Amino acid sequence: MSLRGRRVIVSAGPTFEDLDPVRFIGNRSSGKMGFAVADAAARQGAEVVLVAGPVALPTPANVTRIDVRSAAQMHAAVLAALPADVYIGAAAVADFTPRAVAPGKIKKQAGMDTLVLELVRTPDILAEVAVHPRRPRLVVGFAAETDHVEQYARGKLEKKQLDLIAANRVGVAGSGFESDENALAVYGRDGFERALGPAPKIQLADNLLELISTRLG
Ligand code: PMT
Repeated sequence: MSLRGRRVIVSAGPTFEDLDPVRFIGNRSSGKMGFAVADAAARQGAEVVLVAGPVALPTPANVTRIDVRSAAQMHAAVLAALPADVYIGAAAVADFTPRAVAPGKIKKQAGMDTLVLELVRTPDILAEVAVHPRRPRLVVGFAAETDHVEQYARGKLEKKQLDLIAANRVGVAGSGFESDENALAVYGRDGFERALGPAPKIQLADNLLELISTRLG
């Protein structure tokens, strides 16, 4: 199967939510999984737009890369990249962002033992793409879970109205964040189920894109 003639948008990496000019709230995503997905899609012939959070990875060949920092910027870049045949949300997007970014470095005051941050919800990019008027034919999410992996992944599949979700365990060595290897459990809203790996992320990405291209027909 080939993805020739298909347009694929992939999001990858973390988002950084700035608190002040020197601090941010981030997460452990290295971008390896999403970059491997973008690379696999390009090698299978797709036109690929990769919306990348702040990571130190080279751009895969034949991929158009759009660098972003925050969840708000990722949201804008993904929506601007529509329409597409497929959207794959492999990014670890912050669910909350500071209500306001302090213009100067937040200073400790004498006697200050705690600091309370006020955070507000970020837009759910994946859920929005799934109900967008220009919804891609296939909307594929990832679920990063420390426990109850299948249960939580299936919950996201339904709630976000996705076609497929690729669940991976985080918080353990050899899968999820930062590692070169991973294991995915892929669930479809039509009852589809497939375990991929453990294997290098490059290989898992190839397997995932094969599933996707088969579904596109
Ligand atoms: O980058 P690596 O170090 O290689 O690690 C890979 C990975 C663990 C980051 C990747 O495999 C992965 O699981 N990505 C999704 C991480 C995540 O944020 O999962 P989640 O369960 O919190 O979110 C579910 C889905 O909703 C994801 O597709 C996410 O991109 C999307 N989402 C979440 C919040 C939000 N505001 N907008 C979104 O689009």
